[in-house]
Amino acid sequence: MSTQHLTVSSARLADLLRPATTATAVLPAAARPGPGGTPAYRALAERIRALVLDGRLPLTARLPAERGLADRLGVSRTTVAAAYDLLRTDGYLISRRGSGSWTALPTHHPEPPTRALVPTTLTGTIDLAVAALPGPGRHLHRAVADAADALPAYTAAHGYHPAGLPLLRETIAERYTRRGAPTTPDQIIVTSGALSAWVLVLRTLLHPGDRVAVESPTYANALEAIRAQGGRTVPVPMGEHGWDLPAWHDALRAAGPRAAYLIPDYQNPTGHLADPDTRRTLIDLARSTGTTLVADETCADLALDVPRLPHPDHPAPMAAHDRSGTVVTIGSAGKSFWGGLRIGWIRGTPDLVRRLVSTRAGLDVAAPVLDQLVLHYLIADHADAILDERLPGIRDARDHLAGLLRTHLPDWTFHTPPGGLSLWAHTDSLSTTVLAEAAGRHGLRVAPGTLFGTTGAFERHLRLPYTLDQATLTEAVRRLAIAAAETGRTRTDAVLAPAFTGCVA
Ligand SMILES: Cc1ncc(COP(=O)(O)O)c(C=O)c1O
Repeated sequence: MSTQHLTVSSARLADLLRPATTATAVLPAAARPGPGGTPAYRALAERIRALVLDGRLPLTARLPAERGLADRLGVSRTTVAAAYDLLRTDGYLISRRGSGSWTALPTHHPEPPTRALVPTTLTGTIDLAVAALPGPGRHLHRAVADAADALPAYTAAHGYHPAGLPLLRETIAERYTRRGAPTTPDQIIVTSGALSAWVLVLRTLLHPGDRVAVESPTYANALEAIRAQGGRTVPVPMGEHGWDLPAWHDALRAAGPRAAYLIPDYQNPTGHLADPDTRRTLIDLARSTGTTLVADETCADLALDVPRLPHPDHPAPMAAHDRSGTVVTIGSAGKSFWGGLRIGWIRGTPDLVRRLVSTRAGLDVAAPVLDQLVLHYLIADHADAILDERLPGIRDARDHLAGLLRTHLPDWTFHTPPGGLSLWAHTDSLSTTVLAEAAGRHGLRVAPGTLFGTTGAFERHLRLPYTLDQATLTEAVRRLAIAAAETGRTRTDAVLAPAFTGCVA
């Protein structure tokens, strides 16, 4: 996937280098000798290297000139020059005489993992690569029965509804209206899942080579879809506490992307929830650069620590803050109810919906009638009961997983997300590409962090869903800890094309 090159100013880099706890503009951690008497240039190189590996500095970003950064950090130019030299030697920086230095990742391969320390005796693979729940049992059966009863009213006609079944469009529109974003049925098109919805939006709005800004990290398949559509990603690093608005400002201003893809509710994979001010700021920014802001609200129902929608204490959908027609919303039954239904939708202006319908003729024409009827009954008759029943269990599973990680992998760090279905863990120094391979040998499927970035970042991150029952999670973390011990402290300054195959959701 081709990627837009961003320029990082010395002020911005100084900001990123500042330790989270330091309120001043100086950079003691980067500029002074590091722990154990590490020379200052080495400490600075190490901090920049960590920013690249963690995706906070996008790849192929142009770094500031040595003198400017030295002035900003209050260190000598020699220190910055030596740090850049070291980064170049290690493969984290590529420089061209007269035109600057860009961030990069080394291309050599990690050392192979050591042999297993503890043999695994249990059988049966545990899948921790998919963050999705099983179907909602009796509610789903009831909705299927009601849909089957209603079907004869539809079978007299041809059954092709390119914009979606009118009944379901109405049900979805009403749901938005109740959530503070007044919506009419002609603003909704029903799709075959949220991913199809994103593909349809891309096909309709994007010309080959257009730029699309994305959170970094983000939902892996959304990146695949941009690549398939010939788009160029502009990765905007997520901050430690959520959306880094100055970085979004710089990225949208510099790149003027056609579209921005955001997951404001329990962001996949970090779990962050955008507050109303962040939502408004992002919309204003996108409007001012002529960027269509696509909000993927697939995870919006999964509130664990705040009251769920619609509630005044839960941020309203992006569309509720939009006065300018900047926002296009994607939704899905996949996380709230069941991924196996394969039904999602797009909310936009009636005009956009007409354009989407016409693009769709070359894709899948329409979604299945029976499945749309099932979703109608699920939303109309069961949504509250399903969410009331499942959210407390998900919250307990999240806390259980967090406790297991603290006990068995105490070096790993993560923040506890206020909702969603997964934790985004930092493995300290473990390569998750290697770890995923080791875990596979112990019957555990995990998705390495690199899948959630554009070009190899997030090697030291792992997304861990808490969608399995607690006993299975306990066994999963036991296997994970074995795989982690086996992987050992493999050097992570190297990147492999992920050998990972199969479904990630
Ligand atoms: C943010 C996000 N969007 C979209 C999807 C895909 O949804 P669907 O199964 O409806 O295609 C997922 C599933 O993992 C997701 O996490």
